Amino acid sequence: MSQEEAKVLIREIEERDAEAFIALLENVYAESDYLLLEPDELNRDPGSVRQYIRNYLVTPRSTIFVAEEDGTLLGFLSTKGEAYRRVRHRVTVGGLAVLADRRKQGIGTQLCRNLFAWGRRQGIFRIELSVITKNEPGVALCRKVGFDIEGVKLHAVILDNQLMDEYLLVKFLDDDDD
Ligand SMILES: CC(C)(COP(=O)(O)OP(=O)(O)OC[C@H]1O[C@@H](n2cnc3c(N)ncnc32)[C@H](O)[C@@H]1OP(=O)(O)O)[C@@H](O)C(=O)NCCC(=O)NCCS
Repeated sequence: MSQEEAKVLIREIEERDAEAFIALLENVYAESDYLLLEPDELNRDPGSVRQYIRNYLVTPRSTIFVAEEDGTLLGFLSTKGEAYRRVRHRVTVGGLAVLADRRKQGIGTQLCRNLFAWGRRQGIFRIELSVITKNEPGVALCRKVGFDIEGVKLHAVILDNQLMDEYLLVKFLDDDDD
């Protein structure tokens, strides 16, 4: 583990993080081409964001992990679980991003590894994620941490008036992910 990696704490989000979380999202949504929301679609109301966080924390097999350093949030990963017994073994990653000036320092990898260890403790063994096929850093991170391409969703996203395809990625958890 590099020194850069060692300083960063990965933990579950708390309601008190609402304002710092808004600041993080404003930052990453303003400069990341490949996220789902456009910047003006972001909810910036602290009360609603606290409720949004609470919903994740009270919903079984759902959570948001944040990467924190000296009180500043550097990145996040959110994941949602399923309610019904036949599909409770799987979760979907909805959001994953790191501040632009803190990328390529292993934070995305740490967020994913944390998700995998948490998933094992929850009895989850299938993790799903979609990434726009042109998102090279996103695809590279997913491949590095063990996701495989399961399929392609054609014309899944419209970005700047252009139709984009998404990879459907899957990772099966095992003992190595504890
Ligand atoms: C994708 C993202 C989360 C990666 O976060 P990160 O903290 O930079 O990732 P890491 O430093 O852990 O890098 C992990 C691997 O991804 C690959 N990678 C990261 N950035 C890359 C880049 N710019 N180009 C190519 N590969 C890259 C490398 O293989 C790297 O492994 P290595 O350092 O051992 O070579 C980050 O680029 C980001 O926030 N992008 C904008 C939001 C986004 O696209 N989210 C969707 C992600 S599915």
